[in-house]
Amino acid sequence: MIGIVLAAGLGKRMKSEKPKVMHEILGEPMLIWVIKSLKKAGINSDNIYVVTGYKSKLVEKILPEDVNKVEQKDQLGTGHAVSVALESIKNNDDILVLNGDVPLIRPGTITEVKESLEVGNRDAVVLTMKLKDPTGYGRILKTGNGLRIIEDADADTKIKKIDEVNAGIYGFKSEFILKAINQIDNNNEQGEYYLPDVINFSDNASTIIVGDNSEVSGINNRVQLAEVQKNAQKRINEEHMYNGVTIIDSENTYIGPDVKIGRDSIIQPMTFIDGCTRIGERCNIGPMSRISESIIENDVEIVRSEVDNATIESQCKIGPFSRLRPGAYLYMNVKVGNYVEIKKSTLGEGSKAQHLTYLGDSEIGKNVNIGAGTITCNYDGVNKHKTVIKDNAFIGSNSSIVAPVVIGRNSVVGAGSTITEDVSPYSLALGRGRQVIKKDRYRKDITKEGEE
Ligand code: UD1
Ligand code: CA
Repeated sequence: MIGIVLAAGLGKRMKSEKPKVMHEILGEPMLIWVIKSLKKAGINSDNIYVVTGYKSKLVEKILPEDVNKVEQKDQLGTGHAVSVALESIKNNDDILVLNGDVPLIRPGTITEVKESLEVGNRDAVVLTMKLKDPTGYGRILKTGNGLRIIEDADADTKIKKIDEVNAGIYGFKSEFILKAINQIDNNNEQGEYYLPDVINFSDNASTIIVGDNSEVSGINNRVQLAEVQKNAQKRINEEHMYNGVTIIDSENTYIGPDVKIGRDSIIQPMTFIDGCTRIGERCNIGPMSRISESIIENDVEIVRSEVDNATIESQCKIGPFSRLRPGAYLYMNVKVGNYVEIKKSTLGEGSKAQHLTYLGDSEIGKNVNIGAGTITCNYDGVNKHKTVIKDNAFIGSNSSIVAPVVIGRNSVVGAGSTITEDVSPYSLALGRGRQVIKKDRYRKDITKEGEE
């Protein structure tokens, strides 16, 4: 079986510079949703053909490498798009066609279309749905002469009342489509070659009505984009809940399609989790946190924080108001607290940086205590340098650690120090001016006479 995905249109109604199929649903372009579903339905990448056209270079960039890319230079309609794809398909496999703007189609539904085509020995199978408001969709007309699909733009008032519509997912027998695709014309309201018109050339095409309309909502404008996003969000969150994750406020929790979350984890409101993020068991995430492309092990707590391309081992506590940037790696049982930013740095088991700190390009050992207001000065204006702080070191509050520098194990840095030289193990380092007391230099004007 071959899968053709139509993604060449501009998407006029989106009013966008960006091709419609690149608009994202929960962080993933709608076209990728369609391709992933096809793959899950068992269609191999080398049997998937994606038709691009409008800003094709941009669209091709987001496509998986292993699918076939076909360019439809002029977008003359969905029928024309399929004929362009068919030219580059060499074998005689049967064909599935999916609109690239119908992202929530389930793999099981694609399989149903495929099986109905094979088992029923039909020329064509069209997936349909019944809608209270069918505006915008092609209407399914069933007459004595068989099936017809009439586009919204070409429908008269009577046809417009038909509530069964074309969902934009089709199965075709190879011999049938190869012949019929050359028989359609563009004598219609939009002057386009309509794919659904191929049905006119069959006397045994059939329909399957989809069980759940939300699967086949097409996206033509931003209102529909928001509606589909809501449906996607509900579908994903419910799946996590059925798998043992507590989501306190599903409507205000945004989880991407590739995220995995372990049992008994709790996701608090206003939390965004995307990319290939993995969250372990018994974690408590949020409220108001954003986690992207990160690995979070078991029993981790994250409150009001940003985590991007970071790894957090088990039992760590993050936030409130922490920011873990790419390359942050926290070993077990690390605590990172208020207004702490960490970039490209590792923190060893049991270490703590609880308040107002920046750690960049650092390697921090086990059981290190980073005092409030500690800053690693990693950048000299041209290059970045590394800070190494060995196991059990204690960094006093408000210290500046000027890299490159190594602070030895079990050593102590006095509060307020500026450290520019390596500190040997088991030492106290002080890098600050000594306190000075000048007698009789008090604020005479505001102190009553006779007082000291
Ligand atoms: C299409 C169907 C309609 C159906 C609806 C379901 C046609 C003529 N009509 O209408 O019956 O109810 O989908 O959502 O097919 N595209 C190309 N090349 C082109 C034109 C379009 O690749 O030359 C792609 C678009 O990028 C899009 C898909 O085909 O992903 C559908 O095109 P669109 O213009 O959105 O069709 P609809 O008007 O929604
Ligand atoms: Ca559409």
